[in-house]
Amino acid sequence: MGFSEAQEELVLRSWKAMKPDSESIALKFFLRIFEIAPAAKPMFPFLRDAGEDAPLESQPKLKAHAVTVFVMACESATQLRKTGDVKVREATLRRLGATHVRAGVADAHFEVVKTALLDTIEGAVPEMWTPEMKAAWEEAYDQLAAAIKEEMKFAA
Ligand code: HEM
Repeated sequence: MGFSEAQEELVLRSWKAMKPDSESIALKFFLRIFEIAPAAKPMFPFLRDAGEDAPLESQPKLKAHAVTVFVMACESATQLRKTGDVKVREATLRRLGATHVRAGVADAHFEVVKTALLDTIEGAVPEMWTPEMKAAWEEAYDQLAAAIKEEMKFAA
């Protein structure tokens, strides 16, 4: 199934609306991940080091990861529309594969992150949210996750 211009527009339009508030949206995104899957918490070394009770909202790396996932999903949407495929620069993809293998990330975690991402967008732009917008973000994320997972096989 191809990714249409309309789908790209849905992803980019909602991201544009969220961008000015991306810090707090990114934080909500990560808190949502740990709500759905508390077991994902110890994966993040900087959280482990900070101790069990350290407040999540004071973790700059967590927010950075959340914004990265958003931005990369947007880039993924643009590439899917242009070429029908996700192109992450090879060196970047190789590093991403290695990082996520090292962190013990598994398929189930990608699903949790996807659900948290969709919940967060729905909460951030409820007036824009439609089944079509959901499907467009899902596709962009799924293809990106598939590219990372493929690379993880080689890094394992
Ligand atoms: C690190 C992107 C999914 C956990 C990173 C980094 C990027 C990234 C860019 C920085 C390190 C590097 O460049 O190698 C993504 C994208 C994802 C995704 C685009 C989904 C499409 C996940 C999932 C988990 C996860 C599902 C697990 C819940 C981590 C951890 C690190 C990391 C633990 C290392 C953090 C650190 O030690 O600084 N990710 N990630 N990521 N990611 Fe992801």
